Amino acid sequence: MNPVDIRASLDLTRRARRLRRSPGIRALVRETRLSPDMFVYPLFVCEGQGVRREVSSMPGVFQLSVDETVREVTATAADGVPAVLLFGLPAHKDDVGSGAYDADAPVQAAIRAIKREVPQMVVITDVCLCEYTSHGHCGVVVGEEIDNDASVELIVKAAVSHAAAGADIVAPSDMMDGRVGAIRGALDARGFQQVAIMSYAAKYCSAFYGPFRDAADSTPKFGDRRTHQMDPANVEEALRQVAQDIDEGADIVMVKPALPYLDVLRRVKDEFGYPTAAYQVSAEYSMIKAAAANGWIDEPRIMLEALTSIARAGADLIITYYARVAARAIA
Ligand code: PBG
Repeated sequence: MNPVDIRASLDLTRRARRLRRSPGIRALVRETRLSPDMFVYPLFVCEGQGVRREVSSMPGVFQLSVDETVREVTATAADGVPAVLLFGLPAHKDDVGSGAYDADAPVQAAIRAIKREVPQMVVITDVCLCEYTSHGHCGVVVGEEIDNDASVELIVKAAVSHAAAGADIVAPSDMMDGRVGAIRGALDARGFQQVAIMSYAAKYCSAFYGPFRDAADSTPKFGDRRTHQMDPANVEEALRQVAQDIDEGADIVMVKPALPYLDVLRRVKDEFGYPTAAYQVSAEYSMIKAAAANGWIDEPRIMLEALTSIARAGADLIITYYARVAARAIA
């Protein structure tokens, strides 16, 4: 065939390129729009005053004392990001994670300070014991095992202490069985009916949490989290887990990590139609940062492409260390 014949044989009734011609046309037909409204910004709150310590494996992420947390939250609000997710770094750890439910610990103090200084900010708290236990596990260890029911009792105490300090939403990330219902019951019994629960429902046992454990100093001293976090190979199980958390009273369900689990996110959103969060976790962030530092990738474009993909797969909320940077990029 010569070139003329090829032209004659083309079917061009539909030319897809018509709608790709200019930035304006592309914007009109864009299906997924990122908005700062959907971002949640994680913060690591530590003891002390004036502390702003960068996490070596997460450039741009800091451990912040309560006063610095309030400054960061003020700037977060100015960037148009509506919510923060607080993690705590206690001064002392013990085998029952008492820092997790201490009314004067950094997270509880930060909740009160944020609600005083930046009252419109939605304060979400991570509820787990791993940052607070000397062994780094998410619950009470008996022998070499995590005792589910004893752990739930302490996790409930942590959630209640966050609610008492003024948290809007508590987010259990421990993956113990029955914790969502137990938290709901305890909150209601104490007059915190209006405090919502965002459950880390489909939380996988992932190597993508590595840099976070530097940030939160929560690497288990022995063993791993395979007996409670989900096997990365499973998706039907994720749907069962989400169904159960909804039954127990979860208001928002989460899939975590995000980018390697977009299929799970899509299925959770389609199956339940619930407010669905995705957590772009620490290594998803650090891998981009490391490649960018080497000059191998275009960081702003990769950042927005990853976040857009997470939204396209069904996330209503995206928890991301890029929240402030991305909000400014799309403003
Ligand atoms: C547990 C918790 C973890 C993360 C959020 N909550 C770590 C873990 O399960 O080991 C990971 C977040 C990230 O990697 O950015 N409290």
